[in-house]
Amino acid sequence: MNDPIWRGVIDRYKEYLPVTDKTPIVTLFEGNTPLIEAKNLMRELGNNLRIYLKYEGLNPTSSFKDRGMTMAVSKALEEGSRAVMCASTGNTSASAAAYAARCGMQCVVLIPEGAISLGKLSQAMMYGARVVAVKGNFDQALDLVREITDRYPITLVNSINPYRIEGQKTGAFEICDVLSQAPDYHAIPVGNAGNITAYWKGYKEYKQAGKIDTLPKMIGFQAARSAPIVEGRVIEHPETIATAIRIGNPASWKKAEEARDESDGLIDKVTDSEIIKAYKMLAHLEGIFVEPASAAGVAGVIKLNKRGYFPKDSLVVCILTGHGLKDPDRAVKVSEPPVVVPARLEKVVELLGY
Ligand code: F0G
Repeated sequence: MNDPIWRGVIDRYKEYLPVTDKTPIVTLFEGNTPLIEAKNLMRELGNNLRIYLKYEGLNPTSSFKDRGMTMAVSKALEEGSRAVMCASTGNTSASAAAYAARCGMQCVVLIPEGAISLGKLSQAMMYGARVVAVKGNFDQALDLVREITDRYPITLVNSINPYRIEGQKTGAFEICDVLSQAPDYHAIPVGNAGNITAYWKGYKEYKQAGKIDTLPKMIGFQAARSAPIVEGRVIEHPETIATAIRIGNPASWKKAEEARDESDGLIDKVTDSEIIKAYKMLAHLEGIFVEPASAAGVAGVIKLNKRGYFPKDSLVVCILTGHGLKDPDRAVKVSEPPVVVPARLEKVVELLGY
């Protein structure tokens, strides 16, 4: 029987993770995020699908990155490292900075100048990371981080660090534990392609362990002008309003293709306007506020459903990777501005149409 008190993903799933009793666990009690049935969205799409939303924005730094970061930072500490470093479109840097702070390690983050959202930047700064803005994009920042961490005693904590993938695979375990089965389809945004890699690894390991009988089809979605895997070529100047997945040369490209092919799934692209539409639908229909990149998976499901891709009553899980408050600017931009009235009762009531 597992301890009923939640103490984070390493504590809960240690038998599936490369840890020992000696590993110093650095945790903010990440994981155990809700899997929410999307009743209104299902109705809106014609009641053809059973859709569940895994709300990863409810992790301690408000994105799925915390699952991998608890592992990467714990192992870095175990190995005697004093500093961690990452390139980031924002969420990895927020998470790395928090977990480093938690154990008194130094953290350096390289971000593309002017291309990360305010919430994420504020997190890295507040947690005390050394924040370096690079005049370039994420892919260039990651190249620099690889080189620097090769040469100097700093641990790289991007998802090419295998411990990141180990931690993130716990999301698959949680889904299966709640549903008592694997979903038929697993929909997920794809940026640097670590998360699709991690989930696929998790599902396969759970099947191996006899916890589930079937595997889901992995369906990943890139943003249309940042879709290197879909286009089959590096995108030199990726663009999208979903800044979290504005990536032109994903580090786990091959692994994402393996997940797609082994599972008989697909990797497709969705336009910014499809992403915005799904982003607003999630908030309006379900009361779930995510950042734009997180809506890419849902936008993809909507697109494929219109094409008749899914057999009737398929069970679809969408990973909502990050919280909407990460990027409040975008939310305000796509919404109606507040109406301004004098501070008088009759004016407010008049406006409301009573
Ligand atoms: N959704 C969000 C909110 C993200 O922050 C990311 C990646 C992804 C999806 C894509 O996941 O890279 O594993 O395919 N963010 C990274 C970062 C790149 O630096 O925070 P992926």
